[in-house]
Amino acid sequence: MAKRGKWGSKIGFIFAAAGSAVGLGNIWRFPYKVADGGGALFVLIYLASILLIAMPVLLAELSLGRATGRNPVGAFEAIRPKSGWKGVGFLGVLTGVMIFSFYSVVAGWTVGYFFKAITGKLTGISSEAAVNLFTSFTSDQLMQVALTGVFIALTAWVVSRGVSGGIETVAKILMPALFALLLLLVARSVTLPNASQGLKFYLDPDFSKLNIKVVIDAMGQAFFSLSLGMGTMITYGSYIGKKENLPSSAGWVAFFDTFIAILAGFIIFPAIFSVSGMAPAEAGAGLVFKVLPVIFAQIPGGPIFGALFFLLLCIAALTSTISLLEVPVSYFLDERGWSRKKSTILVSVITLLVAIPSALSDTFLEYWGFIWGDLSLGIGAFFIAVFVGYIWKTGNALKEIKEGTGEKTFRFAKFWIISMKYISPIIIFLIFVGFILSKFDLW
Ligand code: PHE
Repeated sequence: MAKRGKWGSKIGFIFAAAGSAVGLGNIWRFPYKVADGGGALFVLIYLASILLIAMPVLLAELSLGRATGRNPVGAFEAIRPKSGWKGVGFLGVLTGVMIFSFYSVVAGWTVGYFFKAITGKLTGISSEAAVNLFTSFTSDQLMQVALTGVFIALTAWVVSRGVSGGIETVAKILMPALFALLLLLVARSVTLPNASQGLKFYLDPDFSKLNIKVVIDAMGQAFFSLSLGMGTMITYGSYIGKKENLPSSAGWVAFFDTFIAILAGFIIFPAIFSVSGMAPAEAGAGLVFKVLPVIFAQIPGGPIFGALFFLLLCIAALTSTISLLEVPVSYFLDERGWSRKKSTILVSVITLLVAIPSALSDTFLEYWGFIWGDLSLGIGAFFIAVFVGYIWKTGNALKEIKEGTGEKTFRFAKFWIISMKYISPIIIFLIFVGFILSKFDLW
C-alpha cells in the first residue's frame, strides 16, 4: 500500500478540519434553515445538538480514524472485520458523493456571484432586483451545469495533488480574511433601520413553532456543519499523529464552526427585515444570494466588499468540497489500491452526473440536501455512536483519545461516555422515529 499522508502539525490539522467544517453550511445553509425553522427555536435546538451529540461524535470519528489509520470503510473493517459494520463506511462514501453533488451547485452560485460583483451587476441593486437576478441566474440551465462542473473540476485538481500542501496554506491566510469581512458585515447589518425585528426573529424563540421537522433539521444541520456522520472526520483523523491532543483540536474546530454560523445569522436576519420586507421562510435556498447583494449595495465600497466576500465564500466552499471528495478517494486508494488520480477522476465524473438535477432545480436541490445532508448524516452518526459505545467500546476509544494529551487527562471523559452510549444513540433514534411517524401522520 502507498504511504498514507499525515498532517504537518496540530495547527495544520485544525486548519484542515476547520476548513472542512466551515463552508457553505455556515453561511448559506444555516441561515436558510433557521429561516425555514422559525428562527431562534431552530438556533437553540442546533446549539443543544452541537454540545450534546455532535461534539462527542466528532471526537469519536477522529479517534476511530487515528486508531485505525484508515478510510471510513477500512476503519470499521479494522475493528470489527467481516461484519456488516463496514456498511456504515459505505454509506459514508455514498453520502460524500451525494453531498458533494448539490454542494457544488451552490458553490457554483458563489463563483457566478463573484463575477456578477466584479462586473458591476450587483452595484446599487434593490431588493426586488436581487430576487429577480437570482431567479434568472438559476434558470439559465447551461450556465448552472457549467459552473457546477467548474467547481467539481477545481476540487478534483486540488485533491489529485494530495491535500496537505497548497490548500492548507491558502486556508490559513484566507479564512481569517473571511472572518474579518463577516465581522464588518455584522456591524453594518445590525445598525440598519429595523434591524431589531430581525434580531428578535433570530434570538427570541417561539416555542409554539416546535415540531419534529424543526428538530430533525436542526440536528441534521449540526452534523452537516461539523462534517459528521459520513466519515470525513474519520478520514481526516487518520492523518493525525499520535502526539496530537484530540480533545483540544476537536474543541477548536467546533468553536470556529459554530461561531461563524452564528455570525452569519447576525448578518442575514437584520438585513432581511430591514431592506427587503421579505418573509424569511419564503426565500428558500436562495436566501443569502437574494439578501446579501442588497446590503453590499448600501455600504461604501460595496462592490469591492461584495466581490471579496463571494471570493472568500468560494474558498470556504472549496476547503469543504475537498474533504467531501477525499472520503471516496481515500476509500478507492486504501481498499482498492487505485491511484489517487484515477480515483479522483472517476468520483468527480460520477458526481457531475449526479449533480445535474440539483443544478436544474432549486426544489430538487433542497430535497436532495435534506435526504443526504440531514437524514443520511443522522443515520451515520447514530451508527458511529453505537459502534464506538458498544462494539469498539468507550474504554478503547478513550485510550486513543487520551493519547497525546500528555499528563493531562480528558476532562469531559464521563460526559463523553454517557453521550456515546446513551444520549447520542437514543436521542437520534427517537427523533428519527418521531419523524417517520409524522410522515405517516401517526403523530
Ligand atoms: N461542513 C461543511 C459545511 O458546513 C459541509 C460538509 C458536510 C463537508 C459533510 C464535509 C462533510 O459547509
